[in-house]
Amino acid sequence: MYSISNRRYTGSKYKLIDWIEELILENCEGESFFDVFAGTGVVSEHMSKHYNKVIINDFLFSNEIIYKAFFGNGEYDTGIIEKYKEKFQKIDPDRIKDNYFSKNFGGKYFSNNDAKLIGKIREDIKRLKRVLSDREYYILLASLVYSMDRVANTVGHYDAYRKINNIEDRFVYDLISPEKPSDKFCIYRMDANELVRKVKADIAFIDPPYNSRQYSRFYHVLENVVQWKKPQLEGTALKPKAENMSEYCKSRAPEVFADLIKNINAKYIIVTYNNTYNSKSSSSKNKITLEEIKKILSSKGQTAIYEKKHQCFNAGKTEFDDHKEFVFITKVGLNNGK
Ligand SMILES: C[S@@+](CC[C@H](N)C(=O)[O-])C[C@H]1O[C@@H](n2cnc3c(N)ncnc32)[C@H](O)[C@@H]1O
Repeated sequence: MYSISNRRYTGSKYKLIDWIEELILENCEGESFFDVFAGTGVVSEHMSKHYNKVIINDFLFSNEIIYKAFFGNGEYDTGIIEKYKEKFQKIDPDRIKDNYFSKNFGGKYFSNNDAKLIGKIREDIKRLKRVLSDREYYILLASLVYSMDRVANTVGHYDAYRKINNIEDRFVYDLISPEKPSDKFCIYRMDANELVRKVKADIAFIDPPYNSRQYSRFYHVLENVVQWKKPQLEGTALKPKAENMSEYCKSRAPEVFADLIKNINAKYIIVTYNNTYNSKSSSSKNKITLEEIKKILSSKGQTAIYEKKHQCFNAGKTEFDDHKEFVFITKVGLNNGK
């Protein structure tokens, strides 16, 4: 069974979570936690035990499905979920036809057989939607996302696949381990700058993209399988038409970040950041500098900075060995504007 952290995801805070938790508990008080750019959701999952309410947001479709599967308030029948798992596991790839997924991704991001299975299971989940509860549907779909991500022929994201001849058949459909239905989580798939204008929380946790690499492009295969609109794909990486392109990955990032901070309604603002802006690879250069973050946050309240050395995820290109993670904690209102 997959837990929420069993995923490869650029910028995941999984390895830093104990440090982040300690800093938040030592410095912030409150009943509600807002994960503004939640990515995998590991931070929300870990922090949820300390709060009555958790708001979790990310603008990717695949992330939203994962939150709804793990944290939703809908009921699900474990027997039904298990029954479909067993059915899916018994599908023989030699006895099914090629499909959208295998035609596009077979022999590339997955072996032909694995791609056939993934496409077939996705189609089955779509067909089953009317007999499943919403939560069961999300659980089956998120389980497909975790199972396919586990065997993808990539370095962890879908900007490219590994050029190898005979990709092994490795796909096994397995389930995620969802939490019990609860009203603790409010799940959103919105642009962060729009959402901060609508919700409030005691503690806002802000972990935006750091560089020009767009998450919707990195995880396009997962976005594709979750949305299942079967778009036409282009280029060697087989990407669909661009969507959900983040302003945080463009030169306007400092302005957009300043707008976010200005409009956020929270008692404490936590921002994580790392110093890859010194990096030699231009796509991993940061769009916002440490100084800009500090200045923007200080306009909202008294800001403390904590730092830690950290071995980051990279695809082998970034020659960078002085990687540091930073956590900014702003107490909103204190020394405001000074
Ligand atoms: C650094 S990752 C967050 C990682 C997360 N803290 C974790 O531990 O998995 C940044 C996330 O921001 C999302 N994102 C980027 N721009 C966004 C926007 N304008 N609104 C909402 N989410 C956005 C991306 O999809 C990505 O998942």
